Amino acid sequence: MGTGPEVNASSTIGGAGSAVDTEIGKAILDMGLATRTEIEFCREQQKQSSDPNQRSLTDLLIENAFITPNQARRIRQALEERKTSQIPGFQLLGKLGKGAMATVYKARQISLDRIVAIKVLPRKMSENPEFVDRFYKEGKAAARLSHNNIVQAIDVGVSPEGYHYFVMEYIEGKTLYDLMQEGHSFSEAEALDIAIQIAEALAHAHQRQLIHRDVKPKNIILTPQGVAKLTDLGLARAADDKLAAEMEAGKAYGTPYYISPEQIRGELDIDFRADIYSLGATLYHLVTGRPPFEGETPAAVMHKHLKQPLIPADHINTALSAGIGEVIDVAMAKKREDRYQSTTDMLEDLKAIRAGNPPIHARRNVDLDALEKVEETGQTVDVPQIVIEESEPEVVRPRASRRQETATPDLRNSKVIAALIVLAVSLIVNAVLIYVILTMPGLA
Ligand SMILES: Nc1ncnc2c1ncn2[C@@H]1O[C@H](COP(=O)(O)OP(=O)(O)OP(=O)(O)O)[C@@H](O)[C@H]1O
Ligand SMILES: [Mg+2]
Repeated sequence: MGTGPEVNASSTIGGAGSAVDTEIGKAILDMGLATRTEIEFCREQQKQSSDPNQRSLTDLLIENAFITPNQARRIRQALEERKTSQIPGFQLLGKLGKGAMATVYKARQISLDRIVAIKVLPRKMSENPEFVDRFYKEGKAAARLSHNNIVQAIDVGVSPEGYHYFVMEYIEGKTLYDLMQEGHSFSEAEALDIAIQIAEALAHAHQRQLIHRDVKPKNIILTPQGVAKLTDLGLARAADDKLAAEMEAGKAYGTPYYISPEQIRGELDIDFRADIYSLGATLYHLVTGRPPFEGETPAAVMHKHLKQPLIPADHINTALSAGIGEVIDVAMAKKREDRYQSTTDMLEDLKAIRAGNPPIHARRNVDLDALEKVEETGQTVDVPQIVIEESEPEVVRPRASRRQETATPDLRNSKVIAALIVLAVSLIVNAVLIYVILTMPGLA
């Protein structure tokens, strides 16, 4: 984690001693960056290493100071672009952006003469057959979706050079991440408008059993007309989510700010509620100007997602309505059972707030949750202990439901005691009356 993009990236193109290494060696030689002897020296080092995870040729060339990290990066870029330009049927027009795991290019689809975006995955991912299988399955599922707020998936394939790619609709606009980086701050109305569009997109995908798993400002593009488009839907993740989150270490903004607790724990049965959490976290960032949890390292941020109570958005930005704070609170509940139990429920609440009304489901969640538990058990429900670590001072704000859970059983106990007293008193009074009647002189 976090050895710097240069060294890491070389190993994503190909393993040590691979065909890619040979190709990189050739390119370095062609460009006159290192001599044949230097390259052979490094190859020899590779061969003699007993480490099964031995370093790639580029890593060794850098270590031996034969080339600089910057030169290595430029070579890899040149090679990658050469490969991508060889995706049959597409003419590469330029790079649109690069994320932690892939590069996105603008391209022309020659047959239809239209502009598309192509996401090219590193070769390393092709080495994992499970991932490749999921990539195609999800790609196919995504291509069947059609929604105005989802970037349309067009095709998946593999280039003759072994690069897996994902062709999608090209969207003109900027990601929410880019807009925030430029200093744009979102009003509650603007943020709600975006969240509603993305919730519509997710509801559409969830109804068709497709989970995004990576909803975040970088994956939402806003067009000049104000249409929010969710990207990367149906793009299988290479590794388990915890690993993917860790892989983002070292990127200025790539820390796992929006990932759900169950994904951090590496649980396998991730469902739509992970997307609900991430949408809540994205909305939190839009309306407060900061991610829900921050920390020095990705591990610190992940720890807070798991353990630290959330400071309500409307406490940070007091201009916000209480309703939006409640919606985010429910969406970002640590336990997924406490979140919205359907994406359309969240959508309805977001729309209610936009119309100036209180959120129906968020409130009902809080109230019913407590009452149901009490009625089921008929006894006091334990208040979960929130452990606050010394290094993370935080305001603990028990949820309203927890307060009710403890208050209601007390009330019930006192009612029972009162009823028992009334019963006992009435029995005594009745007994006395019967005795008096039976012992009256007239009756004897
Ligand atoms: N369909 C598209 N149309 C236009 N631009 C796009 C499209 N998809 C992605 N991009 C651009 O490409 C960039 C890189 O996207 P990519 O999904 O590879 O990484 P990311 O989402 O920014 O981050 P990461 O992969 O690290 O999570 C995006 O930030 C966006 O600017
Ligand atoms: Mg993306």
